[in-house]
Amino acid sequence: MALDLITVTDPRSPVAEAYRSLRTNLEFSSLDHPLHTLLVTSPGPDEGKSTTLANLAVTTAQTGRRVIVVDCDLRRPRQHEIFGVSNGTGLTTMVRDEAALTRPPLQKTQVAGLWVLPSGPLPPNPAELLASQRMSQVIERLMQSADLVLFDAPPVIAVTDAAVLASKLDGVLLVINAGSTKRQYALRAKEILERVNARLIGAVLNNVVLDKTLHTYYT
Ligand SMILES: Nc1ncnc2c1ncn2[C@@H]1O[C@H](COP(=O)(O)OP(=O)(O)O)[C@@H](O)[C@H]1O
Ligand SMILES: [Mg+2]
Repeated sequence: MALDLITVTDPRSPVAEAYRSLRTNLEFSSLDHPLHTLLVTSPGPDEGKSTTLANLAVTTAQTGRRVIVVDCDLRRPRQHEIFGVSNGTGLTTMVRDEAALTRPPLQKTQVAGLWVLPSGPLPPNPAELLASQRMSQVIERLMQSADLVLFDAPPVIAVTDAAVLASKLDGVLLVINAGSTKRQYALRAKEILERVNARLIGAVLNNVVLDKTLHTYYT
């Protein structure tokens, strides 16, 4: 298990407390339309999307709800590393294989009520796969097995994957990195999501300072 799962390794820390506040704030911001599916993304790479999503999943499962984490970053999947599970089968298996659609290859985690659907083998055409009718069936199927399904995705700006997925889900949480996200990129990400009629629930301010630029990732 990676150190990134601070809600598991150090649940009493201020950082874990911050993730619990995020969970509570999300509940309050969606009172009239409870979220069953939520996308977590950000304008650029390495802004803390995957880490934020994983810890939000843990704190939500800790309230007794059934949670599934789906790794839809089919370019740089990371949830299997964070939760220490195999990436051999997963989302792409479910998209391809009828039997897996019926019985999702979910991986148990060390947290009760929390399952991970890793990316599975990486396809050559992630955006197309995420846009497919079959992907919509996968989403429907996962919703039957959990109270909350959280989707990890690539950055919004470099590739269309996140926007494609956003249009199929109940809401989007945008991670903004206080150290590295440029204002113009945050606004651009918001515009892209609004264009596909995504429901932007809110933004999380993450504070990693990383010495990388937006373009080192998917170009
Ligand atoms: N709040 C934070 N404080 C310190 N390091 C963080 C924080 N959030 C993320 N990181 C680290 O930054 C790197 C990128 O995080 P990740 O969640 O994989 O980003 P993304 O999914 O946006 O590419 C990881 O090594 C992770 O451990
Ligand atoms: Mg990520």
